[in-house]
Amino acid sequence: MSTKKIVIDPITRIEGHLRIEVEVDEEGVITDAFASGQLFRGIEYIMRGRDPRDVGLIAGRICGVCTNSHFRAAVSSVEDAYSLEVPTNAVIIRDLMAMALFIQDHIVHFYHLHALDFVDVVSALGADIPSTVKEAYKYASDPYRNSESHYASLKNRVQKFVDSGKLGPFANGYWGHSEYRLTPEQNLILLSHYLEALRFQSEISKAVAIFGGKTPHPQSIVVGGITSVADMLNPQRLNDYLFVIKEAKEFIDRAYMPDMRLLAEAYRGDIKAAQGRANGNFLAVGGYAFDNDRKLFEGGAIFGHDFTDIQPFDEKELSEAVDRAWYEGDEVCYTDLNDDGTLKTAEPTDKYSWIKAPRYKGEPMETGPLARVLVSYHKGGLIKPFVDEFLEAADLEIIDLSTTMGRNIARAIESSFVCEYIFKLVSRLLQNISYYDTQTWCKYEFSEMPPESSGRVFLEVPRGFLSHFIDIRESKVERFAVIAPTTWNATPRNRDGKRGAYEEALIGIKLADQSKPLEVLRTIHSFDPCLACAVHVIDLRGTELSKRLLRVE
Ligand code: NI
Repeated sequence: MSTKKIVIDPITRIEGHLRIEVEVDEEGVITDAFASGQLFRGIEYIMRGRDPRDVGLIAGRICGVCTNSHFRAAVSSVEDAYSLEVPTNAVIIRDLMAMALFIQDHIVHFYHLHALDFVDVVSALGADIPSTVKEAYKYASDPYRNSESHYASLKNRVQKFVDSGKLGPFANGYWGHSEYRLTPEQNLILLSHYLEALRFQSEISKAVAIFGGKTPHPQSIVVGGITSVADMLNPQRLNDYLFVIKEAKEFIDRAYMPDMRLLAEAYRGDIKAAQGRANGNFLAVGGYAFDNDRKLFEGGAIFGHDFTDIQPFDEKELSEAVDRAWYEGDEVCYTDLNDDGTLKTAEPTDKYSWIKAPRYKGEPMETGPLARVLVSYHKGGLIKPFVDEFLEAADLEIIDLSTTMGRNIARAIESSFVCEYIFKLVSRLLQNISYYDTQTWCKYEFSEMPPESSGRVFLEVPRGFLSHFIDIRESKVERFAVIAPTTWNATPRNRDGKRGAYEEALIGIKLADQSKPLEVLRTIHSFDPCLACAVHVIDLRGTELSKRLLRVE
């Protein structure tokens, strides 16, 4: 059977530069796929020779989106190297920033980076306004901004866009594609939420900035604690924070979650056909203590969808390889494209990505909200009732979440869950302060810290499982390494030829129109790719990233 190659480069509506190549058979079914990180980064080189107290501010620049995640992780890796005990208040403040970021990231991802893979903007213009109001009540008891006047004015605005021929952010969509399944009324509801979410995501950013000084690139996390002490002690600032979260929760309950139910119904066939399912390997490290013995997320590893055997996370099982990435020993080793402009992938040793290949127990793993939900759910974690409620309302099973749509459902459930627990975190902070525990940093003398030391941190961040590793020599950074969530999901093959999560998720998908590969975009977008974060160079010697912690095959 002859195959044809389809190249999508760049994939848009993501952070960074990603190229996807798929091979399709005569029926238009994807038979093979290659994900290629197209952006070379060198932040680890910049780190060398720096003062370890500066790594947070530098690492925050790895990405323009995940700034807070890298900032915190890098600072925590130094704290680990110096064995510093960070006070409870500082941990809570860091968690409050992280939690706001979870919500902000998930809302931006779904509405602004992904929704238009499901929502046909042009079709919304055909919506009947009274029917739209009625339709929204099918999925929510009190739908968000659900009035005839609101929808009529929205429709008017979009019509003006279309009439002027300038679709702005909606230009170049595959409008009219047969894989768009929503009715004009449903499209109008989602389009309304798309625009409302634009306002929300900027509001939620303010919540991060209350304790971070600003966002992106917050300033308030330092080795040993936090600096936003006055904000922590000011009841008005805490109120401001909670006000934003309450508003976000309302949007999540009345728009985001109902939209997931609507989509789960409209795309039920794809869900049941397991569209976008990867290899069933999931990795989560868990974390975010809110009580003495309970955590927001559980950690563990699942292999091949075997939910009966969730293995505890063990850092000794992490490894990284560059057999198929553009590195060789001491050198960067870029190999150009084939004459026809496609990636060199024909040979099992051909290199095709700037992304390295992280493995857990030698296996490619999927990380992210879906991995967290599946691990926590099966370990009886706190999120379980939230998941059960959705599954029951949508008449789905837990395995159905291991799909393109399921990744979005997991993200929405997680947003709702996190909102709920933010209030508990704030109560814990207030309780601490009322007992006159106002400590926000641990005192240490830099000159007394060991000049040679290594540290690492494993953290759940919005896009998944993030690791930072640091080696300190003569009180300077000698080596610094990152494995970001997208490094896991967008990994190239290894010498064993096993596909990564992006690649595996595409296999078996049938393209309705090969000139408009909407199904590919949809599945890749469901992972919330962040390529700026994903690409990290290896140590120049091409071997170990952190002597103590990381085995490189
Ligand atoms: Ni990022």
